[in-house]
Amino acid sequence: MTIGHVKLGDLVKAARRDNLESMALLPDGADVSTVGKLPFVVAQSHTSAQRVLVEDAESYRKPWVVRQVIVDGLGENLFTLDGDRWLARRKPVAPVFGLHNLDALASLMLTTVDEAASTWHPGEIDIQEAMTDLTIRVALRGLLGVEENNNELAIEVRRTFEEILEWITYRFNSPLSPPLLAPTPRNRRLRKSKANLQAAMHELVAHRRAQSTRSMDILGQLLQAQSGDGTELADKAIVDECIGFMFAGHETTASTLTWALYELSLRPDLQAAVAAEGGALGMANEGLVTSLQSMPTTEAVMHETLRMYPAGISIVRSAKRTTELAGKKLRRGTLVMIPVYSIQRSESLWENPNEFNPNREYDERAEGSLPFGLGPRRCLGARFARTELLIALSRICRQWELTFTQDEPPRPITAPSLRAEGTLNLDIARRG
Ligand code: HEM
Repeated sequence: MTIGHVKLGDLVKAARRDNLESMALLPDGADVSTVGKLPFVVAQSHTSAQRVLVEDAESYRKPWVVRQVIVDGLGENLFTLDGDRWLARRKPVAPVFGLHNLDALASLMLTTVDEAASTWHPGEIDIQEAMTDLTIRVALRGLLGVEENNNELAIEVRRTFEEILEWITYRFNSPLSPPLLAPTPRNRRLRKSKANLQAAMHELVAHRRAQSTRSMDILGQLLQAQSGDGTELADKAIVDECIGFMFAGHETTASTLTWALYELSLRPDLQAAVAAEGGALGMANEGLVTSLQSMPTTEAVMHETLRMYPAGISIVRSAKRTTELAGKKLRRGTLVMIPVYSIQRSESLWENPNEFNPNREYDERAEGSLPFGLGPRRCLGARFARTELLIALSRICRQWELTFTQDEPPRPITAPSLRAEGTLNLDIARRG
């Protein structure tokens, strides 16, 4: 295990320009890098990431500051809870993302994607904007079971949620900005949006409880879920989790779809193969989930996109007790950053790592693959996300031929998901 070092001044300068640029400073071949004399280290090899997230996960927690921004913006949920309270919540909630209702969810997703893509017009489209819109529609239907556009509640949930996301992004990007307690106009607006969102969600939960029909969306499943003591989950916990899922699943999936469609727009043959798989989807006399297992090209595109463009470019932890990493003693409170983006583009793990190559041998459990995190806090919505990605990519390509005609390639930035700077415009034409 080798230890490298990054000068604090260099890191600050690079990070001011761009978080991705600061990752390029990490010394080659090191497992862990220290930064100046700060209580901050980078676990930059797969082995050290595995140690922090899996083998020694008990010694770490999500840092207070990250949790606090999300709690301020959305309330407490699985993403922010810690210790026993997290475990008590994860146990009853995890099964709602199981396989038993995936066919029904997949068919909700397919309808939503087909409907959304059929409203597009030939010509130029900002695919980043279109994917943000699409994933919120899928979230409203698949997570909350609400029909968009003809439902005032859906419009209210969507509007307030977007305002809150803006506040969270601002707080992450401007850590020295006034905390929520300060009565600034921005913070006052956030408080109002948060109260509105929670009220709308409580109304939705009460409405659903009053209905006797069982429903296969995630909210419907949560209403059936049982806590460890055999009681139903409280309405407040259900509201908090649904809001948390919208937060964790919306921008991340939109970002992955955007980059995948951009890469496809450069490769007409690959795109045609994905379109053919989209055309065959649901045609065979079998469940959608079974059909999704026979889409090798779309699946390879999805994996390669998750490798090259992980929506969460890094995962952060803080040591909750004294521990050791790569032979280095870490005191309690030390911040540890796992640079997912640079691990997944590491030359020691992949040949030509900066080349988009869906033909490369890929095993999701392979070393260095951690787009959904690892260990006990790994992504709970990974199956939901993968299902949505396969359906959306193949069905969009089935309806549309996409071409990138701009002079400059898009520049990835973090905001806080991996996004393209500005807009990402593609030309679209109906597929014949
Ligand atoms: C491509 C899409 C997605 C990516 C790349 C992604 C990535 C991640 C990552 C890296 C983590 C771990 C964070 C950490 O360890 O600090 C995580 C956690 C989580 N994700 Fe996702 N996610 C995606 C989609 C979704 C979706 C669609 C949902 C829900 C519908 C979801 C729900 C969650 C939840 C609840 C957690 C917290 C789990 C816990 O701490 O117990 N994610 N996600």
